[in-house]
Amino acid sequence: SQTRHFHIAAIPGDGVGGEVVEAGRHVLDALAAASHGTLAFTWREFPWGSDHYARTGRMLDEDGLDQVRDFDALYFGAVGWPTVPDHVSLWGLRLRLCQGFDQWANVRPVRFPPGVTSPLRRADTAELDWVVVRENSEGEYGGFGGRNFAARGRGGEVAVQSAVFTEVGCERIIRFAFDLARTRTRRKVSSVTKSNAQQYGMVLWDEVFTRVAADYPDVATESVLVDAMAAKFVLRPEDLSVVVASNLNADILSDLGSALAGSLGLAASANLNPERRYPSMFEPVHGSAPDIAGKGVCNPIGAVGSAALMLEHFGLAAEAERVQRAIRTTCAQGVLTADVGGGATTKDVTAALIDNLAD
Ligand code: NAI
Ligand code: MG
Repeated sequence: SQTRHFHIAAIPGDGVGGEVVEAGRHVLDALAAASHGTLAFTWREFPWGSDHYARTGRMLDEDGLDQVRDFDALYFGAVGWPTVPDHVSLWGLRLRLCQGFDQWANVRPVRFPPGVTSPLRRADTAELDWVVVRENSEGEYGGFGGRNFAARGRGGEVAVQSAVFTEVGCERIIRFAFDLARTRTRRKVSSVTKSNAQQYGMVLWDEVFTRVAADYPDVATESVLVDAMAAKFVLRPEDLSVVVASNLNADILSDLGSALAGSLGLAASANLNPERRYPSMFEPVHGSAPDIAGKGVCNPIGAVGSAALMLEHFGLAAEAERVQRAIRTTCAQGVLTADVGGGATTKDVTAALIDNLAD
């Protein structure tokens, strides 16, 4: 049969980014090697990140977006290192790619692998599986604002950080959440805002949510304020299926979700340009973890799960499920890194994942 061939731009970035991207590449290469020639991945690595910034004064090349525009996908590690202010590194690389390629939907599944102890007391008995859908193009990370240090000086300075909510931006992410809910066993969308306190943008979001919900009578809905949703993640997570929220709120909630599952190192994410005009980007939820970088002990599962989301995006559902199954088996076998209570190295876990790809 024919070979399906995918070209992937790997952007390891900083810190553990390099270690987890390498792990994900090994797993996908093993999948291709076992495919009897039906599947092939070609990788090209881009050395962007804080070292690149030290050498060139830029987090990514000036024509960086053009360099990766024609790839089938971007596979990203993490960005951020103590040598560069975090807002410079994040805006200079990750947000540049997400916004430049209009990756407006950030999908962050919260999964509880077997064999990993959750800090949730009831997690063992409940069937927990939900998805955070994050608006990824505007909201609190719209980048509008300013500071007037020059005019007022230290002590008197004023800073404004605006949040941007457009009707188009709200509607497309909310519709995306409803469409995703229709693919799940539990058809429910929970919308998260703080519209009691933020009376403009988030009230617009709430109104759009109500309007879009009318087009999906088969999907159950709820609107929950973000502080209450934080509590609900802990107390009634079995009641969640798809949780849609603004950029900042979903960023926070997805870290909470992955911590509840056992570790930030477990969580996967997809930054999607659903129209497929630009490449989408797949990355673990965690950052560069400077405290453990370079030691070979970081958890590769978030990055490998992100590779599985990339396979899904390529239309390779069976292969994606094979990787997800390998993750569950590896965790159930107790091959775990230190963040989830084990003694395995990144390489040990990667080797086990590859072994477990075979049925
Ligand atoms: P972080 O996610 O890097 O680390 C938080 C904690 O989780 C640390 O204790 C770390 O050791 C642990 N952790 C993270 N990933 C892990 C893994 N794969 N295995 C085991 N343990 C893991 O968040 P932090 O410390 O707030 O930020 C560090 C740097 O990363 C900063 O420069 C920040 O701006 C950047 N960052 C970048 C992101 C991205 O590129 N998407 C996302 C979040 C933070
Ligand atoms: Mg985050």
